[in-house]
Amino acid sequence: MKIIVTGGAGFIGSHLVDRLAHDAANEIVVIDNFARGRRELLAAHEGDPRVTLVAGDIRDAVLLNDAFTGADTVYHLAAQSNVMGAVSNIDYSFTTNVVGTYNVLAAARAASVRRVVFASSREVYGEASELPVAETHPLNAKNAYGASKAAGELYCRVFRETYGLDTAILRLANVYGPRDHGRVIPLWFDAVAEQRDLTVFGGQQLIDFVWVDQVVEAFMRAATRPVAEPINIGSGRGTPILELAERVIALSGTSAKLDVQPARSIEVARFEAEITRMREQLDLTPPEDPLFGLPVIWESWPSRGR
Ligand SMILES: NC(=O)c1ccc[n+]([C@@H]2O[C@H](COP(=O)([O-])OP(=O)(O)OC[C@H]3O[C@@H](n4cnc5c(N)ncnc54)[C@H](O)[C@@H]3O)[C@@H](O)[C@H]2O)c1
Repeated sequence: MKIIVTGGAGFIGSHLVDRLAHDAANEIVVIDNFARGRRELLAAHEGDPRVTLVAGDIRDAVLLNDAFTGADTVYHLAAQSNVMGAVSNIDYSFTTNVVGTYNVLAAARAASVRRVVFASSREVYGEASELPVAETHPLNAKNAYGASKAAGELYCRVFRETYGLDTAILRLANVYGPRDHGRVIPLWFDAVAEQRDLTVFGGQQLIDFVWVDQVVEAFMRAATRPVAEPINIGSGRGTPILELAERVIALSGTSAKLDVQPARSIEVARFEAEITRMREQLDLTPPEDPLFGLPVIWESWPSRGR
């Protein structure tokens, strides 16, 4: 079965490719322009004829049309994948996250793909009126990243309703795990590994962290189960950012301090996912402790002990 993973050289995408490759019947085509992805994350599949890496851009409709021929499932993860990046380059976030998503849907339709699973984000909600945030909460994105994901979701819906293209939408909370970089957990592990203090913007944030393996499982299940509406993928528990800082410092055994900077108003400060749909439609249960995976990451942290 031919499966496309856009953004498959990125953090979540590379874990998804590992998982898909477990099934000998799968032929996996990764499309990634390496804006943030890295070839080495797919090194385990070098020489495997079932895994093809296309160095290409989802803004290139011709490339997508060629690559999608004969595909059964498309996991669409390629994106300008964070808030601050989208703010600093709104043009790239629009052309990749909105036009690129349109291109993916159009190519999937042309190739009669069975289902597209779209990686959306909790940023589509903006600052929530109440916690936990259910999927029925209005979409009030407050930054260019959230707006681009909300637009992507609408195009998924339109392709589904107008052209019968089957789409599933997962609204991911804050995903963490090995291979990530540039987000709060990896930045803080880098800091403690290098005996630096932890920079905190504001300090009042409440973040719903979800372990990457659970997210991969959600993608796998969303590809085959009946999924009519967007589904939050989170732990269902908000972790105060200062609690995260304490746990990172305790794990590392350092005496790092917090360097508190003014809050960045462009970022959503408080989020906790309501996860009834995740439980009922994908049959996924979150772990007791959302941050259970921190020691796993720290154990093999690359700059540790340098
Ligand atoms: N990590 C999270 O906490 C989180 C939360 C919510 C949603 N998401 C979404 O999940 C998906 C995967 O996120 P991630 O954390 O793995 O991010 P990532 O940046 O590691 O992966 C995204 C991949 O897309 C690739 N890419 C970017 N622009 C492209 C383009 N124009 N053409 C082709 N490839 C392109 C990048 O090189 C990268 O490999 C993204 O869509 C992201 O928006 C992630």
